[in-house]
Amino acid sequence: MAAPDQRVAVYPGSFDPITVGHLDVVVRGSALFDRVIIAVAPASSNPEKRPLFDLEERLALVRAACADRDNVTVEPLTGLLVDFAASHGARVVIKGLRAVSDFEYELAMALMNHRLRPEIDALYLMASAEHSFISSSLVREVARLGGALDGLVPPVVQRAMAARLKGEPLSLPEMDTTHT
Ligand code: PNS
Repeated sequence: MAAPDQRVAVYPGSFDPITVGHLDVVVRGSALFDRVIIAVAPASSNPEKRPLFDLEERLALVRAACADRDNVTVEPLTGLLVDFAASHGARVVIKGLRAVSDFEYELAMALMNHRLRPEIDALYLMASAEHSFISSSLVREVARLGGALDGLVPPVVQRAMAARLKGEPLSLPEMDTTHT
């Protein structure tokens, strides 16, 4: 739990995998808040999204990608997002918004979250123009079809994706097995 005077935000998502667009939100969010907790969801809420990395792998990749941010921590998201935020002393959930196509889904989630816990607010950061086309699902598709991922995902993720798609074992820093 955070100190009472700390401004804490939760940044939730599936992060399958974390992209440079996500990292942009992390960097900007970590400048706005004393602490940002990245909450990695156990599985995508969208059954159409075929996961490339399991939860422990995604946690390790997000931790590696954000290792240079002192005020950012990474945890598995358990239960309802608003309950997770409340139990970690966060009053704000931050999200990136890329295009109008994101809006309907985000609005429904924000309204539901508000209904569940009105004291938790949602803050949307507009994606930087150069990242507005990047999504984890497109990155997965490009990777599966052999396209270049430079500038779309951090190098640690690029290496992990190459290994996964070749069927090789991943060598990930900080694999945390306490949440399996
Ligand atoms: O990266 P994604 O897949 O868009 O992230 C979706 C996520 C994890 C933010 C959403 O599924 C979520 O908040 N899950 C936690 C469970 C929850 O609180 N569900 C009710 C949301 S209205």
